[in-house]
Amino acid sequence: MGMTRRTNTLPLLYSLILVVGLLKYNANADGTDDDGLGQGASFIFGDSLVDAGNNNYLPTLSRANIRPNGIDFAASGGTPTGRYTNGRTIGDIVGEELGQPNYALPFLAPNTTGKAILSGVNYASGGGGILNATGRIFVNRLSMDIQVDYFNITRKQLDQLVGPAKARNFLMKKSIFSITIGANDFLNNYMLPVLSIGARITESPDGFIDDMLNHLRNQLTRLYQLDARKFVIGNVGPIGCIPYQKTINQLNQDQCVDLPNKLAKQYNGRLKDLLAELNDNLKGATFVHANVYDLVMELITNYDKYGFATASRACCGNGGQFAGIVPCGPTSSMCGDRSKHVFWDPYHPSDAANVLLAKQLLDGDTQYVSPMNLRQLKEL
Ligand SMILES: *[C@@H]1O[C@H](CO)[C@@H](O)[C@H](O)[C@H]1NC(C)=O
Ligand SMILES: *[C@@H]1O[C@H](CO)[C@@H](O)[C@H](O)[C@H]1NC(C)=O
Ligand SMILES: *[C@@H]1O[C@H](CO)[C@@H](O)[C@H](O)[C@H]1NC(C)=O
Repeated sequence: MGMTRRTNTLPLLYSLILVVGLLKYNANADGTDDDGLGQGASFIFGDSLVDAGNNNYLPTLSRANIRPNGIDFAASGGTPTGRYTNGRTIGDIVGEELGQPNYALPFLAPNTTGKAILSGVNYASGGGGILNATGRIFVNRLSMDIQVDYFNITRKQLDQLVGPAKARNFLMKKSIFSITIGANDFLNNYMLPVLSIGARITESPDGFIDDMLNHLRNQLTRLYQLDARKFVIGNVGPIGCIPYQKTINQLNQDQCVDLPNKLAKQYNGRLKDLLAELNDNLKGATFVHANVYDLVMELITNYDKYGFATASRACCGNGGQFAGIVPCGPTSSMCGDRSKHVFWDPYHPSDAANVLLAKQLLDGDTQYVSPMNLRQLKEL
């Protein structure tokens, strides 16, 4: 359990000149273009970092539709929606900035039908992973295979809604497919000490990571077969630096747990190769690599430069020196200024952190998002 500290000086997130004021050409009152299609859509896959409420509809132990989650989410007036943060997820903020009329709605919500799906659909699920077995301790969650199955249902709904030719064009040109997944495969599968659930007892890190990447290759290829062309795939963040890990391992505030970060970095190196391979092999598709690990590490290491008071203590949570043991809920203690915490709860970044992360993905350079950023991906 050593220190993982970075001392190199990366460009400051806030020093970027942010492009604001998006083109809202041809916008009709209902948010559609003159061809009847949305101006932009996000199809969001992943775990609790981007779940917008799917787990509300599952019998699961992983839920965020309890106060004070969502307290800063303007669209709901501060009531919880199932997002695992105080405000917006990175997926929400990217959608806003790219001119989507509405946030992508959770696939499992009953009103996610008809024209509402022209803003995109969110399939992400707290506890979900690339591998089917990941997150079993939560009893239920949508794993990535199932999320792709559900997109296949949306795909047919789009054909019915606007006709096959327009649906295809809409998916290929106007839709961004984001995939934020993999952390749970380590935290809630490989590293779990429970022998009957964790895979570590039988597999080397290399074998496990191979397995993850083979499944992810198949999942991304299936999305391609269903007409997805513009992809952004996040790598796994520094999961050894979350308040939960720091608390249970009784670290100092500037220390991180080695093993989870090592596994994340090992996976991330291989993910980059996989995306290069898919960029070569899947004709007409663009796979953008989002370097979430370095982005979050920069925020954690230099939190004070970005206006945060702490990157180790959860705003909402209880237990230990970083409020990192008991998840956020109605009886949790809450910090005074939510915009001063990088972490909202023991696992998830705050709205304030998500804003900085999203801006880098939208406008950042190839250190963080390659071969192009999301604004460039949209314009392709
Ligand atoms: C769907 O229902 C949810 C929850 O009741 C609500 O937040 C959302 O605004 C609704 N969306 C639409 C498009 O009606
Ligand atoms: C994972 O679950 C999905 C959906 O139930 C299934 O289609 C797929 O074959 C499973 N994958 C493996 C490797 O078991
Ligand atoms: C989508 O669903 C159809 C059945 O409705 C199936 O034949 C097809 O293989 C599925 N495609 C993918 C990529 O899963």
